[in-house]
Amino acid sequence: MINLLAQLGSRVWMPDNASNYGSEVDGLFYFIYWLCVLMFMMILGWMILFVVRYRKREGYQANKPAPHHSTALELTWSIIPTIVVMGIFYFGFKGFLDMATPPSQAYEIQVIAKKWSWQFVYPNGHVDNNLHVPVDTPIRLVMQSDDVIHSLFIPAFRIKKDAVPGRFTKTWFTATQPGDFNLFCAEYCGQQHSVMKSTVTVHPAGEFEGWLTDAANFLKKMSPAEAGAKIYNLRGCAQCHTSDGQASTGPTFKDLFGREEAMTDGSKLLADEDYIKESILEPGAHIVAGYQNVMPTYKGQLKDSEITALILYFKSISKHFDGTIPTEPLEKDDQAASEQENQSSETTTEGQQ
Ligand code: CUA
Repeated sequence: MINLLAQLGSRVWMPDNASNYGSEVDGLFYFIYWLCVLMFMMILGWMILFVVRYRKREGYQANKPAPHHSTALELTWSIIPTIVVMGIFYFGFKGFLDMATPPSQAYEIQVIAKKWSWQFVYPNGHVDNNLHVPVDTPIRLVMQSDDVIHSLFIPAFRIKKDAVPGRFTKTWFTATQPGDFNLFCAEYCGQQHSVMKSTVTVHPAGEFEGWLTDAANFLKKMSPAEAGAKIYNLRGCAQCHTSDGQASTGPTFKDLFGREEAMTDGSKLLADEDYIKESILEPGAHIVAGYQNVMPTYKGQLKDSEITALILYFKSISKHFDGTIPTEPLEKDDQAASEQENQSSETTTEGQQ
C-alpha cells in the first residue's frame, strides 16, 4: 500500500528514486501527505456541513444547552492520533538510524566541502570534484568542512547530511541505478552557495575500478599544461583565482608567471617557479598588495609533480613566458611507454628531440 502510494506520487513531482532509501523515505512521506489530505478534507467537509446545517434561520430559537462532554469521543480523538503519530515516529526513527549506521564492508569515500566546491577523495588518493560510485555497493561518506557549514544533498538518493567544520559527519547509501544525478549544497554558505553543486555518477557493475585507475593517472596521460589546468579546476584554485584576467578573491593566474607583483609589505617579487611553489605551500609568506591572507595551504595535499604541472600551466597562459612547454606527460606510464616503443620507434625519437 505504502509502496503503491510512493510509486503513484513519484511520477508526479518526486525526483528519480535511485538508492536503497527511496521507497522507505517516499513511503513515509506519502503516508503523512495523504493523511494530511484526508484530515483536511474531513475537517473542511464537516465545517461546511455545520455552517450550512446550523446557519441562523428566521424564527429559530435554541432551546437546549449544547452538549459539553463525551468521554468516549475524547478518548477516541486522543488515542487514534497518538497511535498514528507513534507509528510515524517509529518508521521515521528507524529510517534515521539505518542512515546513520553503514554496513561494515561499505566502500569509503572522504568528502571535503569548502566555499564553494566539493572534493571527493578516493581510497587510492585520487581527488575529484564529482562523486563516482559503483552501482549496488554500500558507499560510506566521511565528510568534513574547511570553512563553514555545508550540506551534502542528493535528491535522487534521498540523503542530506551537513558537513560541519571541526568534526566528521558520516552518511551512507547504496545506489541502485547507473546514471548521473545532481548533488547540491543545501545549507546557505555564502555568496556562491547556489553554484556549489556537483554530479554523482553511478557506474554500471565492473566499470568503476577502471574509471578510478584512469582518473587517478591523469599525470601519466595528459600533457603537463593540461594536467595543470585540470588540477587548477579540481583542487579549488579556480574558486578564487581566475584564468582570464578578472580580479577575484585572489590574483588572476593569467600572465602571472614572470609578472612582478607588489606585496603588502611594499616589496616587489617576481612570480617565478619558487614564488609560485611557496605561494601554494605557504600562502601566508608573501601577500600580494590589495588581497587578504585567506588562502589555505596545500602542503601535503599536492605532489611535487602536481605543483610542476601547475607551474607549467601558468607558463602556458602567461605572455611573460616565451619558452617551450614540454608536451610529454610528467609521470611515466610504464605500460603505454613500452607499447609506444614497440609500435613506432620514429615517434619516440621525435618526442625526445
Ligand atoms: Cu556550501 Cu551552500
